[in-house]
Amino acid sequence: MSVKRNKSVIGNKTSVAQKTKKQAEEKTPAAPITVTVERKPSILFVASEGTPFIKTGGLADVIGSLPLSLAERGNYDIRVIMPLYAGMEDGYKNHLTYVGNFNVPVGWRNQYCGLFYYKRKNVTFYFIDNEYYFKRDNLYGYFDDGERFAFFSRAVLESLIQLDYYPTVLHCHDWQSALSVIYLKTIYANRWGFDKIRAVFTIHNIEYQGKYSPDLICELFGLPAETLPLIEYSGAINLMKGAMQLSDYVTTVSRTYAEEIKTPQYASGLEYAVNDCANKLMGILNGIDDKVFDPETDKALFKNYSANDFSGKKICKQELQKMLSLPVRDDVPVIAMITRLVSHKGLDLVKYVFEELLKEDVQVIILGKGDVYYENYFAHMSDLYRGKVRAIIAYNKDLSSKIYSGADLFLMPSKSEPCGLSQMIACRYGTVPIVRTTGGLNDTITPYNVARYGGNGFCFNAYNADEMLYVIKDAIFTYGNKPVFDGIKERAAKTDFSWLQSAGEYEKLYNLLKN
Ligand code: GLC
Repeated sequence: MSVKRNKSVIGNKTSVAQKTKKQAEEKTPAAPITVTVERKPSILFVASEGTPFIKTGGLADVIGSLPLSLAERGNYDIRVIMPLYAGMEDGYKNHLTYVGNFNVPVGWRNQYCGLFYYKRKNVTFYFIDNEYYFKRDNLYGYFDDGERFAFFSRAVLESLIQLDYYPTVLHCHDWQSALSVIYLKTIYANRWGFDKIRAVFTIHNIEYQGKYSPDLICELFGLPAETLPLIEYSGAINLMKGAMQLSDYVTTVSRTYAEEIKTPQYASGLEYAVNDCANKLMGILNGIDDKVFDPETDKALFKNYSANDFSGKKICKQELQKMLSLPVRDDVPVIAMITRLVSHKGLDLVKYVFEELLKEDVQVIILGKGDVYYENYFAHMSDLYRGKVRAIIAYNKDLSSKIYSGADLFLMPSKSEPCGLSQMIACRYGTVPIVRTTGGLNDTITPYNVARYGGNGFCFNAYNADEMLYVIKDAIFTYGNKPVFDGIKERAAKTDFSWLQSAGEYEKLYNLLKN
């Protein structure tokens, strides 16, 4: 018999002695009837941000959607834990349930920690509260980020004791939660309850590793000096390297990126550590929440449409052109970029050939913020090429939906891109991506321009402005051939980017760790 219980229990089985009526009457000792309380194996996601609560980047989208998709499959009890930031959306902040408070060691000190939760669909999201660390204007970028996330990572493990909840797998993401793996596998390794927890560490971006002076090992991170070799790399404490070495499996967010980070060109110095863990490294592509990014229901669109009927997209384009003071013309392709304005996203390539590109009959829309250098450049080009270029130096969710739906082509020439989200969103909205074949861009976009058959986008390989321009011109040319372009557009919009496939791959990985 199976009995469902909400409250976490220790262990997986509970014996309950029951007395039958007859036995009770006869006052004879009861024969124990065993009731097996089956609990699902559990996965606890540990991350520094997640939608819809708080977001700075793609990590948040993954944390906001993958757990839900896993929980929907019903095989695992899925929970998430993250910091409680001052900037959390009020709609959620005011609806958290208080669990308790306790102290968390940070180096030689003890710090207050409050614990809250919020149930979203069938996933429990826990929040670690400490105003000193998290009541700040931004999520990251402070002198004491090392201390802030040491606190968070340790608070995660202390919360498990408070909750009397010991998951099967602790699934940590990026350097901010790397210390949760490190603590689990060192100072908590032999503690009851923790000794059986397995660890998975996911790299969303290898550029940010959490590097600190080795002197801080005891004082700040509270680790014994003899653990230094586990977390040391190139003469510094490197939290990402420590988590990679100590976790049972390491994943990253696309197959191509899993290969790329074995090489110096992509590894930001960490290639030796990546190669050392090559036998436990795998690439699992991210998905997108296809209910959130859906042109049929997105309220920001001028007109909704679907992959089977793009008539609404035509209106989206016209209205977008009007709104941005661009000539309302269907015969001219609109190329869009929605990106952080930094070289790494390929903006240096774009700048290099921009005026050459503008000799074509095109319209270019750029939305984003970033380096002042690029902000000024594109603002200036907007003035210089009125009616052809429109740069909006901002982040704007509503406008980004309008651009995804109203544009024809979406340019993403990144130097590296672990997975990338925008190319998948663009596809969903029937906006054909032009990408460089790196990381997730390579794994999601199949080039029409190579075989002239099939394909959901345009691709170029070398990080080279002329090669990029050549392929953009090919895309512009192809736009002129309506039946062909419509085919690419439809294939883009019908590509399956849901979490279904990837959630299945994560489950397979968790299954390996279950016993
Ligand atoms: C990081 C990567 C991005 C990826 C995201 C989610 O932001 O730079 O490519 O899509 O993480 O994994």
